[in-house]
Amino acid sequence: MHRTVLLNETIEGLNLNPKSLVVDCTFGGGGHSLEICKKYPGVKIIALDQDSSAFKNKKTDYKIIFHNENFRSIERVLEKEGIEQADGIIFDLGLSSDQLENSGRGFSFLKNEPLLMTLKANPTSSDLTAQDVVNTWSEKNLSDIIYGYGEEKFSRKIAKGMVDARQKAKIETTFDLVKIISGAVPGLYKRGRIHFATRTFQAIRIAVNDELGALAEGLDKGFKLLKIGGRMSVISFHSLEDRIIKRFFREKVAVGEARLINKKVILASDNEVKNNPRSRSAKLRILEKI
Ligand SMILES: C[S@@+](CC[C@H](N)C(=O)[O-])C[C@H]1O[C@@H](n2cnc3c(N)ncnc32)[C@H](O)[C@@H]1O
Repeated sequence: MHRTVLLNETIEGLNLNPKSLVVDCTFGGGGHSLEICKKYPGVKIIALDQDSSAFKNKKTDYKIIFHNENFRSIERVLEKEGIEQADGIIFDLGLSSDQLENSGRGFSFLKNEPLLMTLKANPTSSDLTAQDVVNTWSEKNLSDIIYGYGEEKFSRKIAKGMVDARQKAKIETTFDLVKIISGAVPGLYKRGRIHFATRTFQAIRIAVNDELGALAEGLDKGFKLLKIGGRMSVISFHSLEDRIIKRFFREKVAVGEARLINKKVILASDNEVKNNPRSRSAKLRILEKI
């Protein structure tokens, strides 16, 4: 089960009223949306998720309208609903624990699964998958994304390992990839605090789903759809995302279109981190349109 991160801080930060219209761009397990509905039963929520399985068994008595869409299409979704402006927008980025544990799409290096890593539940032949990336991208491109999106210092060696391996056999599963990474990094690195495959897996997932491109587009389009006085709460889990958010917020403040609700980034409390280790790297930033 996914455990929602920074639940109260995210919702309180939106400063909603009983009739607010909220867009939850990353519905996932629905933790944020359902808590908002409990607190303000009159609120209407437009819930987006790129992964259709997020909406399975999510029948609800509350006013939540589901759209299986990437949040980079937020304006199209609101247009379809005949909505021009929102009071609050939530982005809780990355993967849910359910996707990591149960999707069968190869997000976890601890499970042997087909190497897909698509946020979409049922990718079609035109969707990019992790298999496409590791089997067809050039060694230079692989090295660049592993370094750029994973901040992995052994990126060159890992990329070379992939290219050598795929000349012998197609790289098809998560364990194929873990074996390649294991063969490319030094022994000491394998005994480090984080699993030696963490950064490479993160990098490939970000590339497959163009996560940073989607974030930049989603923030920009979302901000345009906010009412004056409306707010966006954005939770990120790694520095690349946080940098994009911080820069976007600063630019809006600099041109006088917005104000920061929290000058300093909001982190999970010690107690939350103890109960939900995933919250350790979460950072919440909140912006108000003025
Ligand atoms: C961390 S989970 C959200 C958890 C949710 N807030 C909760 O409390 O249950 C992130 C969700 O966002 C979705 N997601 C990530 N990037 C997306 C994008 N660009 N467009 C739509 N959904 C996206 C993922 O599929 C995942 O279900």
